[in-house]
Amino acid sequence: MPRTSMFAELDQIQSDALSEIAGIDSDAALEDVRVRFLGKKGRVTAASAGMRDVAPEQKPAMGQKLNEVRTAITEALEVKAEALTAARDAAAYAGIDVTLPGRPLPKGSLHPLTHVLDKAVSVLRRMGFAIADGPEIETEWHCFDALNTPADHPARNESDTFYFENGKLLRTHTSSVQIRTMETEVPPIRIIAPGSAFRRDEIDATHLSAFHQLEGLYVDTRVTLADLKGTLEFFFREMFGNETELRFRPHFFPFTEPSFEVDLKFHAAGRESKWIEIAGCGMVDPNVFAAVGKTRGDAAYDPEKISGFAFGMGLDRLAMITYGIPDLRLLIENDVRFLRQFA
Ligand code: PHE
Repeated sequence: MPRTSMFAELDQIQSDALSEIAGIDSDAALEDVRVRFLGKKGRVTAASAGMRDVAPEQKPAMGQKLNEVRTAITEALEVKAEALTAARDAAAYAGIDVTLPGRPLPKGSLHPLTHVLDKAVSVLRRMGFAIADGPEIETEWHCFDALNTPADHPARNESDTFYFENGKLLRTHTSSVQIRTMETEVPPIRIIAPGSAFRRDEIDATHLSAFHQLEGLYVDTRVTLADLKGTLEFFFREMFGNETELRFRPHFFPFTEPSFEVDLKFHAAGRESKWIEIAGCGMVDPNVFAAVGKTRGDAAYDPEKISGFAFGMGLDRLAMITYGIPDLRLLIENDVRFLRQFA
């Protein structure tokens, strides 16, 4: 092929390609053009076969021209591909106002019981109490017998307690953790055990069949009632403020002697203050140490050398007082309108 006609042919190919590319509006059409011009059987490839017939002294110039044409078409294809993508993006964004504020994602929050528990635990930890744990499905031994609660005690009645067929039960209080802890650890013991407790109570504004308690146990040599009173007084003042008054009323629990119920008078702004029963407590009964000693088979809890105090309180009740919640059932209904107030 004479030099001039090959040049003209290449110019023609280039201008054909560029004008086709200019009119394209889809990726598929663009690919079609690429194949027809630059593909194995494309026009540029076919034209380059003509190099065979070009005189040797003209080959460099012709090769350069061929490259220029190929580069021009390749670049035009790339520019067009980018333009198509940009147009597609623009179409997708059309009608969307990116300056509008985003939709807030619904965010969870802590349950009021969790707030109260966190506060209670942090106060007691500062006093050196560590968290202990025990199972909710308990043996009669840990829930009753070891706690000096005889078989004929009303708390053990079928109508008060959830029993399983295998003889186990849902613990009626967290005091079982006292026993579990003493069975595996030696004094000094300073633990708190928050957790669920269960009773066959008719559910109403002040009773739930599944509720929450916070147990405390302090065992060492020479622990006295003064330690118990001081600990609980400090605890409740940290929880409810320095003006909080406490009253220790003699009471009976099988596993403490002497035993008390603690009433609390809490002066809240705008609320009438009255005495509210808030906790049970007492000095660990020597029979409890003796029961633990029997299981352990050692003298680590010799009642002659060791003394201790225990207390237990209802966390649900603490939450009621803290937040002025009138009905315990609100705590378990999972109504977000109620729960949102504590977020
Ligand atoms: N376990 C008792 C209850 O559930 C509370 C308590 C705990 C009393 C520890 C004394 C000592 O009522």
